[in-house]
Amino acid sequence: MTEQSPLSLAQNVPANPVVAIVGATGAVGVELLNCLEGRNFPVAKLKLLASARSAGKEMTFRGQAVVIEELTEASFDGVDIALFSAGSGISKKFAPAAVKAGAVVVDNSSAFRMDAHVPLIVPEVNADAMAAHQGVIANPNCVAAIATVALAPLHAAHAIKRLNMATYQAASGAGAAAMEELRLATQAALNGETYEHKVLPHPYAFNFFSHNADMDEASGYNGEETKVVAETRRIMGVPELPVGITCIRVPILRAHGMAISVEFEDVVSPEEARALLEAAPGVRVVDDRARNYFPMPVDASGQEDVLVGRIRTDLGDPSGRTLAIFVVGDQLLKGAAQNAVQIAEALLPR
Ligand code: A2P
Repeated sequence: MTEQSPLSLAQNVPANPVVAIVGATGAVGVELLNCLEGRNFPVAKLKLLASARSAGKEMTFRGQAVVIEELTEASFDGVDIALFSAGSGISKKFAPAAVKAGAVVVDNSSAFRMDAHVPLIVPEVNADAMAAHQGVIANPNCVAAIATVALAPLHAAHAIKRLNMATYQAASGAGAAAMEELRLATQAALNGETYEHKVLPHPYAFNFFSHNADMDEASGYNGEETKVVAETRRIMGVPELPVGITCIRVPILRAHGMAISVEFEDVVSPEEARALLEAAPGVRVVDDRARNYFPMPVDASGQEDVLVGRIRTDLGDPSGRTLAIFVVGDQLLKGAAQNAVQIAEALLPR
């Protein structure tokens, strides 16, 4: 966005805002509604927006039926906060109309994440950066949001010099249709039937594959990897941070895992890292070596906290300046809806 962009108004949000969810029927949209209700967000009125296919259907909010409306440019009259989660194209097309109508947009898509005029926020990490918003605040990529909750408290104590990560990403990151494909493909495999995959590019039952984002043939990195690197640097405020990454889609419904090797400027013991993480907001340390019990998607699913464990010295660096950790977080919550609602909470008057 440029200085002349229509997205250049700075709005004040009332104590009891009118909230719109764009993409209310999607995997993240449903969780946005649940988070607003579960976190007791002071919603004066909720507007649910989706495509014409869903218009007229109902969803339940605080025990009341709310009719879904078709998203149009006129949808944002009287809306104070618009939570967008219907993909980049919809955000680019409709966020300007929402801002023009006086709403603050919290955008879950990648449309504006690298725009210098749009803060990219994980409230536990860089809430201060929100103040500079001009009508749009970007909600990060799910891996970047989950990883930085675990990395920021370590970085605050000992500067991080380099990261290397491998991800284990759930179906939810590819939307509700991908979650359904995982269920159907698994059912078919168990019944000995064939299943023609339609949403993801490879067989999904009892299989994993390189992330389905577009591959850049020249570099060998896919779009997910590129996003995670750029956004992790931006959220942590270390623009040149070297980050190695491999993103993999695994047959899990909704929680992402990531094995991260973290090199620091100086030697950091696993004990100190564990203490820093235990004191960190949004983190739950799950690091029971005696029981071989560490973060798992079944424990992270439906949970607000990011689980961190397997905290140990990385033997790949004999200097002792590198730690290995394993992080699991709910992609639909901290990786998307919950983070967006936390941003909306931070917009409320104090
Ligand atoms: P709909 O259910 O009416 O198609 P997911 O990420 O889980 O695939 O969800 C995508 C969300 O984006 C859904 O809520 C979907 O609504 C919404 N969506 C897709 N296309 C449009 C559109 N053209 N206008 C408004 N909402 C859309």
